[in-house]
Amino acid sequence: MDETQGILEAFYLLLFLLPIIILILRQIRTSSSNGKSLPPGPTGWPILGNILQVGTQAHSSTAQMAQIHGPLISLKLGSQLLIIGSTAEVAAEILKANDRVLSGRHVIQGVLVRGNDVNHFSLIFTDCNDRWKYLRATCRAGLFSAQALESHASLRERKVSEMVEFLNKRKGMVVELKDVVFVTIFNSLSHLFYSKDVLSLEDEEVGSDIKRPYLKLLELGLTPNIGDFYPMLARFDLQGLNKKGAKLADQLYDALRARIQQRRDGESVHEPNKQDFLDLLLANGFSDEEINSLFSVSSVLLVSVHCDSINERDICELPYLQALAKETMRLHPPAPFLVPRRALETCQVMNYTVPKGAQVLVNIWAIGRDSTTWEDPLIFNPDRFLKSNVDFKGNNFHLLPFGAGRRICPGLPLAVRQVPLVLASLLHYFDWSLPNNEDPMLLDTSETLTITLRKKQPLLLVPK
Ligand code: HEM
Repeated sequence: MDETQGILEAFYLLLFLLPIIILILRQIRTSSSNGKSLPPGPTGWPILGNILQVGTQAHSSTAQMAQIHGPLISLKLGSQLLIIGSTAEVAAEILKANDRVLSGRHVIQGVLVRGNDVNHFSLIFTDCNDRWKYLRATCRAGLFSAQALESHASLRERKVSEMVEFLNKRKGMVVELKDVVFVTIFNSLSHLFYSKDVLSLEDEEVGSDIKRPYLKLLELGLTPNIGDFYPMLARFDLQGLNKKGAKLADQLYDALRARIQQRRDGESVHEPNKQDFLDLLLANGFSDEEINSLFSVSSVLLVSVHCDSINERDICELPYLQALAKETMRLHPPAPFLVPRRALETCQVMNYTVPKGAQVLVNIWAIGRDSTTWEDPLIFNPDRFLKSNVDFKGNNFHLLPFGAGRRICPGLPLAVRQVPLVLASLLHYFDWSLPNNEDPMLLDTSETLTITLRKKQPLLLVPK
């Protein structure tokens, strides 16, 4: 009897250890077959690879690794290969010389919560196929062409005037600036799409059916998912994250779908001869799923940016403001690794092999702080842009807050109007101080990497 029990225990132990043994064997096999030509990188732990060395602030930890191992490094996150470029020269190799072959997207488990069909409906995650081209062209026509931008200028100005009006009523009080800017920009986008506000500056409860699941989903996306490190374990959803995510995504999409349905039912929200983006999408046969996906993606990046109202034409006349926006994005890019790419085929970057399927990142946070390019890189000095032609349209690989190549941010023309307009209005209409008249020189400007890079301590300010 004892003997049988011993055999059973040994059997269970073996069963428990089997996945671990398989992972170790796979890692040994991968490193011995690819190791020689992969970019260099720090030695990792068995099974975990470099997960612990990368930590939670990957933009700074991998920038330090690049100082030691060179501008192109390779890492193992669990069983997954990750390649990171950290200089302008490598960025040009990735985003220009190898733009096509490195144009796939690396899709994390958090995105797959509603099934694997991201290819069909998501502009940001689909590969660069005909559907992707069509989605980009539709967005350009309806939102980002010169004509579309011009026709929406007064809308953006109106939303900013509402923000100024709201802050006027709070003079002398402490406000959390990111909340105010979040609502202003979210509503500008929702007006472009639906001709309606979704959120309210005055009442937090308005639009909470959208805001709550949306913010919780972003939070959930930050929780490390075992399935991302070991795809063979993904279908077990060991932490239950996919299940939670699917529930939240259903809530968010139901709330958005209800608004689309109102339009399908003939709701009229704008002048009869006018068309908003939702009308355009419906007229072109887009499904609710496709429409929702376009709307939720676009809000993520914009919301992370640190009246006889000012209008957008004034903004173009303000070179120092433009320099201020560039300097802010140089030091604090909202997407420090751009949006992760994936190698569609094996290719060579800087004479190293990037195998098919590898995840490829460009660390633009490190590029913005590279002392071989920027004088006194850690000093915030907008003047450096006053006499230079450097722009962020993807031609200059030293400054890439919107990426470059075929996957460059399609929202760039909108963002470069909206962000300076909000900033200029905040500066023009108010004098600002810190709560309790604290010394601004002592302000904590450190940042933290969440889905985007943001200020670690929220900016609390008093408008006067
Ligand atoms: C300050 C604001 C913004 C920043 C810093 C930003 C930055 C970026 C970056 C770095 C990428 C990845 C580029 C690459 O892979 O090379 C991207 C992609 C994207 N952005 Fe933006 N973005 C902003 C605003 C917007 C806005 C306003 C929209 C839409 C309304 C938008 C929609 C998109 C979409 C759909 C993609 C995916 C494009 C593709 O994969 O083909 N972004 N953005």
